[in-house]
Amino acid sequence: MTYKTIIDCDPGQDDAVGLLLALASPEEIELLGVTTVAGNVPLELTTRNARMMCDLAGRCDMPVFAGCSKPIRRELVTAEAIHGETGINGIDIWDPITPQQAEHAVSYLVDTLTKADDASITLAMMGPLTNLASAIKKAPSIVAKIERIVLMGGAMREGGNRTPSAEFNILVDPEAADLVLNCGCPIIQMGLDVTHQVLSTRERVQRIKGLGNSVAIATAGMLSFFDSFDTKKYSSEGAPLHDPCTIAWLIRPELFVSKRCNVSVETVSDLTAGHTAVDFWHVTDRPANVDWVYEIDADGFYDLLTERLERFGG
Ligand code: BDR
Ligand code: CA
Repeated sequence: MTYKTIIDCDPGQDDAVGLLLALASPEEIELLGVTTVAGNVPLELTTRNARMMCDLAGRCDMPVFAGCSKPIRRELVTAEAIHGETGINGIDIWDPITPQQAEHAVSYLVDTLTKADDASITLAMMGPLTNLASAIKKAPSIVAKIERIVLMGGAMREGGNRTPSAEFNILVDPEAADLVLNCGCPIIQMGLDVTHQVLSTRERVQRIKGLGNSVAIATAGMLSFFDSFDTKKYSSEGAPLHDPCTIAWLIRPELFVSKRCNVSVETVSDLTAGHTAVDFWHVTDRPANVDWVYEIDADGFYDLLTERLERFGG
């Protein structure tokens, strides 16, 4: 099964690895374009980083569109403390060959989805949901064209990673998340409950590095930097590799366990803004709006990632 897919991201080392995993997997993922948003670092950097990943993967033909530079209603919150000042610390930066398209990401989403058949496009969302929410506000009819949204964001059992209550992507733009979660499309949601199971242990990173190709070496470099903050924070061996879970689900859904339920976003309280209220036990009558993913075969995930990165050569 090949999914016509658009990736929306804010690279970020984990977004970067998600892009590489998708670019290595053309049988399952026909990548139509990449849209970028402000999040982990400001928009100019997330766009440059996405273009760099297309260069690395030998896909300078991939259209990359820059989107919203700030959330719908709030000031931008960034995450240099975790990702470094470039967003992808751990590798050297270059001026990418892959061009930035002139069109804004929101109009690209509107145009592409408007022209598409009903329920034909998959959206893999790896950052704050500002671009998609803005596109839906502009042209609500595009919702019918989306086959599914696979998104990384939110938390239930794990609590928040940026505030006690909120996961970063939802915290940055809770209003966008609220709109997207209630848009009516099939949604597969990967929160911290699942991504915290996917740890980039030293052994797993070494295995990737050992592949020896330039993409694998860059991936290992980024993961080694990404580890430094989270391993202290969580006293874990390795950092959670959040965003590639969205792509892994499209390739091997059998690695994941999910439950259909309602997820609602807190948009009012200052204390708990961006909290995702996951009705895992169906204790409300709020209608189910997502498949909430809560378990993963982490070894299977790293086997998949390693096997796909090997495709970039020796
Ligand atoms: C999410 O926040 C970002 O820092 C990561 O790229 C990921 O998308 C995890 O909370
Ligand atoms: Ca991200």
